[in-house]
Amino acid sequence: MKRTLVTGGAGFLGSHLCDRLIERGDDVLCVDNFYTGNKRNVAHLMAHSHFELMRHDVSFPLYVEVDRIYNLACPASPVHYQFDPVQTTKTSVHGAINMLGLAKRVKARILQASTSEVYGDPEVHPQPEGYWGRVNPIGIRSCYDEGKRCAETLFFDYHRQHRLEIKVMRIFNTYGPRMHPNDGRVVSNFIVQALKGQDITIYGDGQQTRSFCYVSDLIDGMLRLMESPADFTGPVNIGNPGEFTMLELAENVLRLTGSRSKLIHQPLPSDDPKQRQPDIQLAKSALDWTPKVCLEDGLRETITYFEKTHQL
Ligand SMILES: NC(=O)c1ccc[n+]([C@@H]2O[C@H](COP(=O)([O-])OP(=O)(O)OC[C@H]3O[C@@H](n4cnc5c(N)ncnc54)[C@H](O)[C@@H]3O)[C@@H](O)[C@H]2O)c1
Repeated sequence: MKRTLVTGGAGFLGSHLCDRLIERGDDVLCVDNFYTGNKRNVAHLMAHSHFELMRHDVSFPLYVEVDRIYNLACPASPVHYQFDPVQTTKTSVHGAINMLGLAKRVKARILQASTSEVYGDPEVHPQPEGYWGRVNPIGIRSCYDEGKRCAETLFFDYHRQHRLEIKVMRIFNTYGPRMHPNDGRVVSNFIVQALKGQDITIYGDGQQTRSFCYVSDLIDGMLRLMESPADFTGPVNIGNPGEFTMLELAENVLRLTGSRSKLIHQPLPSDDPKQRQPDIQLAKSALDWTPKVCLEDGLRETITYFEKTHQL
């Protein structure tokens, strides 16, 4: 049986990962400081004999015996990562150092949940892994973007210097049940506003695009990457290349919720990328992975979750 550590395991993606690991028979240690995560997300696993939840901040060292480490701990939405930007950088950088140190000590394989934000506001479209990005080092998003870039650097230096088995996954926008209801991410924002009958906020003219990956597809890619051959480190993009403008997304949400909310426009926040779309050729060839869930089906599941859980 594999002993698997998931940092950030009580968050949106982490809790779905814990579900899948428990399903396949791993012994799972979920570590979280509950900054944006919630015990509710893993409450259904608490009675399981192979599941354990530990409150811990990854910016401090951790000593446990495990075979696999999925390092997901980090607030992921601008509202949360900009609230305490120094802590955000510490979580990414000290967190990576602590988890890599642990992996080295116990000879565990380690996966980093990196992000498409390492590409910044890209001049290349769609973004392949070989593109180095265009990131503002001193802006309000830098605590997250540069923290994640530095974490990637640390992963590759531990790999070169200490021969650690690393996997670096660049996650593109992912959505689904257990997203935080008010963290400003566009899918949850639109759904919550539509269900409450509030105006739907579109930043700028709404022509900026994003691609949206449903959570089950993302977790499938993460598990495949972790179990890929030892010499495959990534970085590898995991996301859904289907590209939608914010206006198209809002119209889909209005249609599927049957809401009569109106669309209102507000100025674009600073450093907001205009386009974001993954090039997933590498994931296809190296991991035999492609996303399967279309936007409409994923939105339906997510809307049902928000309707049931948040009494909107
Ligand atoms: N969801 C996405 O679209 C997306 C996109 C790109 C990258 N990612 C990355 O995936 C990971 C998970 O994101 P998510 O969407 O599930 O976000 P989330 O906020 O739901 O999950 C992050 C989890 O980490 C925990 N955490 C934060 N700081 C911590 C610390 N110092 N110590 C221990 N735990 C801490 C939070 O409490 C939370 O449970 C993050 O690293 C994020 O950067 C997510």
